[in-house]
Amino acid sequence: MVDCHLPAMKDFVIIGNKAVTGGKISLNDLPGSAGRMDVLCRCVTASLFISFGMRRDVNVYLILKGEPGPEKIVRFCGATMKSLNPDERSSGSMIQKALLVDAKETETQSTPGVFVRTGNLSGLLEEFKNKCRKLVYLKEDGKDILDADFKAIEDPVFILGDNQGVFEEDEALIRDAGAVSVSVGPISLLSSQCITIILNQMDRNEMQNLPAEE
Ligand SMILES: C[S@@+](CC[C@H](N)C(=O)[O-])C[C@H]1O[C@@H](n2cnc3c(N)ncnc32)[C@H](O)[C@@H]1O
Repeated sequence: MVDCHLPAMKDFVIIGNKAVTGGKISLNDLPGSAGRMDVLCRCVTASLFISFGMRRDVNVYLILKGEPGPEKIVRFCGATMKSLNPDERSSGSMIQKALLVDAKETETQSTPGVFVRTGNLSGLLEEFKNKCRKLVYLKEDGKDILDADFKAIEDPVFILGDNQGVFEEDEALIRDAGAVSVSVGPISLLSSQCITIILNQMDRNEMQNLPAEE
């Protein structure tokens, strides 16, 4: 069912190619045995935190593709998030709790503002398409973010890879879903750095669109 009348959001999807999908992850070893979960945790912080506050109009979808399977999607919801701190252990501990839930195809809330389900990139892209969301693929050789086109993008969903990038199979899904490719600059950056740049650019665009004070 197509539903194009939802409130405006900015969403981020980060593909965790090796991020584990089960078991009790060690907060002391997020980069190792948890499958570079540290990268995903930094993305959560970059997406949701501002100084002394939280971006309530942002959702972060972490696609966990590692062992033992099946793939899972953990969603951090800015609107309802509670008790999250900006450090990696804080988001890591919420992912840890999410992975202890017996995940189903529909979301289960594991802690306030964090939801888990079984699912994959293909299904998630389909859901966004049905909601008429504009898909933006963060890619080094994409169109420059400073282009006027980017300013016009409303209600975007940004898709990024982890330290390994995005593999061909997922890239094909993203392109087939009609995503536009956008670059934040000529150098390959950390995923979390890209998110900071994107949000900063959107903040600037939104400020420009505010009506001038009398
Ligand atoms: C650390 S980079 C991936 C590097 C990986 N070695 C590769 O070649 O794909 C992580 C992700 O950040 C995004 N990214 C990094 N630099 C970017 C840039 N300059 N413009 C747009 N997206 C970028 C891409 O989505 C990329 O998959």
